[in-house]
Amino acid sequence: MKIGIIGTGMLGNSVGLHLLDEGFELTAYNRTKEKTTHLASKGARVVESPKKVAENSDIVIIIVKDANAVRQISFEEDGIIHGNHDGLVIADMSTINPSESKKITEKFLQYGITKLDIPVMGGPNVAISGDLVVMASGNKDAFEKFRTVFEKIGNKVFFLGGDGIAHAVKLAMNLQITMLALALSEGITLVRGASIDPKIFLEILNATYFKTGMSENKAFKMIEEKFDPTFTLENLKKDISTIVQTADSFHIQLPMIKKAEEIYQNAIEQGFGKMDYTGILAYIKKINEL
Ligand SMILES: NC(=O)c1ccc[n+]([C@@H]2O[C@H](COP(=O)([O-])OP(=O)(O)OC[C@H]3O[C@@H](n4cnc5c(N)ncnc54)[C@H](OP(=O)(O)O)[C@@H]3O)[C@@H](O)[C@H]2O)c1
Repeated sequence: MKIGIIGTGMLGNSVGLHLLDEGFELTAYNRTKEKTTHLASKGARVVESPKKVAENSDIVIIIVKDANAVRQISFEEDGIIHGNHDGLVIADMSTINPSESKKITEKFLQYGITKLDIPVMGGPNVAISGDLVVMASGNKDAFEKFRTVFEKIGNKVFFLGGDGIAHAVKLAMNLQITMLALALSEGITLVRGASIDPKIFLEILNATYFKTGMSENKAFKMIEEKFDPTFTLENLKKDISTIVQTADSFHIQLPMIKKAEEIYQNAIEQGFGKMDYTGILAYIKKINEL
C-alpha cells in the first residue's frame, strides 16, 4: 500500500516516521521543504506538490494547520485533485470545523474522490510509536479498505459515523485539553501565591480521583517551565476558536470555552503563541507579575 502525507509539521513528521518504520512506501510534501528532511533521510520520497503526492499514493493523509490550508493543498494549483486516479482516498487528520470538513468532502466528491475524517488525540511523542487515538468518520467502505493503515497510526481506532462527526468529537476532546491546561495553570499559580511548592500541589492532586494524565506527566514540566512545543499554544487557540464557532452553529452555549478563547488570544498577543499550549501557565504567571 502506498501512502502519501501532506503536511510534515510536528504531527505529520512523526506520523510519517512511524509509517516508514512499519514498512510502508511513503511520499511526502510540505509547503516548507526543509521540514521533510528527516523523512527523506529515513526513506520517504519527497515531491514538489500535493498533486504528485496524490499521483504516487493509494491514500493521502493530510496533516495541515486548518481548513484553509486543507482547501489550498486540495483544490488549488497543483493540488490533490490534479493527481486524481482510480481508487484514490483522502484522510484528513487536521483539526478543523465539522461543517467545513463536510464541505471539503463534498467538493472532493465532485471530482470522484472519497475523503475520510481521521482527527487524532495524542501528539508527536505518541505518533512516533503508533499510539495515537484515531476518530474516523465518512465513507465506511473506504474506512474499512484502509483500516489497517489507521490501526498502525493509532492504538485505538473509533469509526463514528457520517461526514464531519469525528471532527465534532475531536473538538470536544480539545475542549478537555484547554480546560485541563487552564485548571492546572491556575491551581499552580494559586499555590505559588501561598508560597507553597507546586510539586506538593501536584502530589496531592495525583493522590486523588481528580488526577489526569496531564497532572501526572506534563504538569511537572510546566512547573519547571519546560514549554518546548509538541502542540503550540497558537494551534490550540485555533481549535478553541473552532469550538466556539461550532457551538454557535449548533446553537449551543459553552461559556467556559468562550472565556478560554479570550485568555489564549491575550497570551498570543503577549508573545506566547509559539510555546507549547501548556505555556498558558507562563502567561498567567506574567499577568500576576510573579
Ligand atoms: N501537535 C499535536 O499534538 C496535534 C495533535 C492532534 C492534532 N493536531 C492537529 O494537526 C494539525 C497539524 O498540527 P502540528 O502540531 O503538526 O502543527 P505545525 O507543526 O504547526 O504544522 C502545521 C503544518 O501545516 C502546514 N500548513 C499551514 N498552513 C498551510 C497552508 N496554507 N498551505 C499548506 N500547508 C500549510 C505547515 O506547513 P509549513 O511547514 O510550510 O508551515 C505544517 O506542515 C493541526 O490541525 C493540529 O491542530 C496536532
